[in-house]
Amino acid sequence: MKFFIDTADLEEIRDLSDTGLLDGVTTNPSLIAKSGGNILDVIANICDLVSGPVSAEVTATEFDAMMSEAKVLSEIAPNVVIKVPLTVDGLKTCKLLREDNIEVNVTLCFSAAQALLAGKVGASFISPFVGRIDDIGGTGMELIDEIVDIYSQYPSIETEILVASVRHPNHVIEAAKMGADIVTLPPKVLRQLFKHPLTDRGLSDFLSDWEKTGQSILNLAEDRKKAAE
Ligand code: E4P
Repeated sequence: MKFFIDTADLEEIRDLSDTGLLDGVTTNPSLIAKSGGNILDVIANICDLVSGPVSAEVTATEFDAMMSEAKVLSEIAPNVVIKVPLTVDGLKTCKLLREDNIEVNVTLCFSAAQALLAGKVGASFISPFVGRIDDIGGTGMELIDEIVDIYSQYPSIETEILVASVRHPNHVIEAAKMGADIVTLPPKVLRQLFKHPLTDRGLSDFLSDWEKTGQSILNLAEDRKKAAE
């Protein structure tokens, strides 16, 4: 399963890309606004840090304007993926961009029917928003289950399922069990994946026992080296 990070915060991206766990980045207009930067610079800076797909979303809502914005965004770097909303104009834009071999992430997906349409127009990625479905009393992960099932019936659909609006580690685990291709994680959730109280307690016990020995691996190695000289 691939991990994307869902942020436009350069410091977070730099920090977390050092873990070697990041396969890509997703942004949206709200995340760009939160970053405080201009979208062209922010996306260019992210692409300097990450070689995997970086989603940049158009903000126009009408086909011709979406195409014009997509052209500008796709010229920023070869790894830019154009993000379009799941609307009629968004899917028309997706189809044309895909014919030009430009990668497209179709976002704001809330139903299996919408995911089917995105698959049909050849989207590179479909982004179902699980957290926002949970927020209104639904079960977001049921949608992932349905999309995995539907796409698996049609080998001609090459669209990758990018689980979005992830709120907690359980969303990630459920998505992995269902065989979703990608999750895009807020930095906080990626950090939560590392954590387990027994890891913290175990490490603390090991270190306190170790301290009692008075040993240091590096000092012992140095002593050995000196003795052999
Ligand atoms: C996906 O690409 C979106 O940027 C994102 O996952 C939305 O998440 P939210 O519902 O937490 O805003």
